[in-house]
Amino acid sequence: MMIQTIHDQWNRPMRDLRISVTDRCNFRCTYCMPKEIFGDDYAFMPKSELLSYEEIERFATIFAKLGVKKIRLTGGEPLMRRDIDQLIKRLYTIDGIEDIGLTTNGMLLKQYGKRLLDAGLKRINISLDALDPEVFGQINGRGVSPDIILERIEYAKQLGFRVKVNMVVQKGLNDNQIVPMAKYCKEQQLELRFIEFMDVGNDNAWSFKKVITKKEIIELLSKEFVLDEVKKDYFGEVATRYRYDDSDTQVGFITSVSESFCSSCTRARLSSDGKLYTCLFASNGFDLRSLIRSDATNEELEEAIKGVWQKRSDRYSDERTENSSKKYKKINMSYIGG
Ligand code: GTP
Ligand code: 5AD
Ligand code: SF4
Ligand code: SF4
Repeated sequence: MMIQTIHDQWNRPMRDLRISVTDRCNFRCTYCMPKEIFGDDYAFMPKSELLSYEEIERFATIFAKLGVKKIRLTGGEPLMRRDIDQLIKRLYTIDGIEDIGLTTNGMLLKQYGKRLLDAGLKRINISLDALDPEVFGQINGRGVSPDIILERIEYAKQLGFRVKVNMVVQKGLNDNQIVPMAKYCKEQQLELRFIEFMDVGNDNAWSFKKVITKKEIIELLSKEFVLDEVKKDYFGEVATRYRYDDSDTQVGFITSVSESFCSSCTRARLSSDGKLYTCLFASNGFDLRSLIRSDATNEELEEAIKGVWQKRSDRYSDERTENSSKKYKKINMSYIGG
């Protein structure tokens, strides 16, 4: 197969595909699916609107032909989609795909971890925002205890997965958890990534005042640890990583607010209902599902995807201001998967 490289208006190649496989989630994190909005009567997508695994595989094959090497499965909560391991197995057979990752809240890992492993998955990113049960229970909106997630993290490690932990930091809510989380993860040799609170979607009451920046976090950590910056592994890596001077364990920062990384953004996003988005903060996506369901050929799908990427000029985080954040309607995180 001939693999092409396509570039957007800022000369950024398309290298990664983040696929959201469901808009549902068993958590109600305050920054993503606040329960006041995502209540019992919230209308999630009916199954017929979701891309089938056949459709996802077909798209992924075309994306790979256009230069995508890395796939990340997200949601909502991807483990809520039935037989997700079957999809992973299929994705691994695609020429050109070198890496597949999964981003999950971890809750269902006991149940599905073994199946994911058997499907060939190697990397899992698990979200955990606090070690304090009160704080974590409040943030996840379901009162789930951190011990449950810690147990799942341990289990995933035992199975042999490479595990990273994602912590979204919000001022006044879980900033007192920064040092405890860092200590815990260092002891357990887990790579922790601090994520600056972002203004994704329209429902999470974001403001600059609630953001704790990488600089502030480093100041806190420097009282306890000595950190040495580590070089990026590849062009477009999202996290900036540091190593503790007395261990091989690393800690990362995802600085979408304080040090945006749009200039190296190589990520395309496919929503669970088959829309192609070229930015996490976009308002509209390109409807690939209606194309695939109207019997488009692979060549036609390829041309459509190419056309969208080549027109792309998004650099939302580079341009963000408090006002721009409120100005227009953005897609929800639970729909596009981060
Ligand atoms: P690795 O392959 O392990 O590096 O995964 P990742 O960091 O790309 O994926 P993950 O799903 O763990 O994402 C961590 C955080 O980075 C989430 O909060 C994402 O929303 C955020 N993130 C990922 N890609 C982008 C991006 O292109 N722009 C912005 N603003 N945030 C992103
Ligand atoms: N800001 C930063 N990170 C977020 N995530 C979800 N919503 C936000 C937000 N508003 C994170 C989750 C998960 C990843 C997919 O995105 O915690 O780690
Ligand atoms: Fe669910 Fe993840 Fe959103 Fe939390 S951040 S509500 S776990 S999709
Ligand atoms: Fe990419 Fe948009 Fe994130 Fe910038 S804000 S890094 S363009 S997804």
